[in-house]
Amino acid sequence: MIVKILENYMELSKIAASMVAGEIKRNDKLVLGLATGSTPEGMYAELIRKFKAGEVDFTDVTTFNLDEYASLAPDHPQSYHFFMNKHLFDHINIKPENINIPDGCSSDLDHECYEYDLRIEEAGGIGLQILGIGTNGHIGFNEPAEMLCVHTHLVDLSDETIKVNSRFFESFDQVPRKAVTMGMGTIMHAEKIVLLASGKSKAAAIRQTVSGGLTTAFPASLLQLHKNVTVLLDREAASLI
Ligand code: PGA
Repeated sequence: MIVKILENYMELSKIAASMVAGEIKRNDKLVLGLATGSTPEGMYAELIRKFKAGEVDFTDVTTFNLDEYASLAPDHPQSYHFFMNKHLFDHINIKPENINIPDGCSSDLDHECYEYDLRIEEAGGIGLQILGIGTNGHIGFNEPAEMLCVHTHLVDLSDETIKVNSRFFESFDQVPRKAVTMGMGTIMHAEKIVLLASGKSKAAAIRQTVSGGLTTAFPASLLQLHKNVTVLLDREAASLI
C-alpha cells in the first residue's frame, strides 16, 4: 500500500485526476472503476478541466461504477446515475454505451448483479478502480459484516451509512435501505486501486485501513492484501496515522 499525504483537498483532487489521466494516456482503452460521494467531486471537476484543455480523451474509455441505490430511478437527483452525469459524464466525450452503472431499478436484481460482473469480465476487468471510504470502513457499499460477498450483490445499508448519507436527502426516512454494489472480489480484482479520503471524519477509518488487522468488520482493511493500492489523503484524513 502506498500512502500519499497531500496538503489539502484541492491537491488531493489534482493528484487523483492526474493519476486517472496518466492511466488513460498509457492505455486509451482503460476500463475505469468509478466512485460517487463527496470525496471524488474535486477529482471529477479536475478531469473535466483536463478534458476541456485537451489533456485527456475519454473516447475509448469504459467505466463501471461501484454501486447504485436500489429503487432510485436514474433521473432521481440522489441516484448515482444522476450524480455521475452531473459531475462527469455530461461534460466529457465518453460514449454513452461505454458507461456502466448498476441498474438499481431492475425487476430482477439478482440477474442484474450477475450480468454486471459478466460485463466487467467481458470488458477485460477493471484497470483502475477509484474508491472512497465510509466512516465505518465500507468500500462501495460493502458494509461491515461477519461475511462479505465476492460478487456484485444487493446489500442492506447499515444504519451508519443511512445516517451519513441522509445529508443528501430531505430526511433519514427517504434514504433507500438497499443498494447494488460491486463485491469485494470485484473490487480486489482491479489491477490498480486508488482510495481517496479527505477530512477529519475519515481519520480513524484511514488508520484502520492502512494499519489495522484484517477483518470483514472493516472491509477496507482487506485492501492491505491487494498488490497495487495507492491511498491519497489530505492532512486531516492522515492525522491519525
Ligand atoms: P463520501 O462517501 O465521499 O461522501 O465521504 C464515501 C463513501 O461512503 O464511500
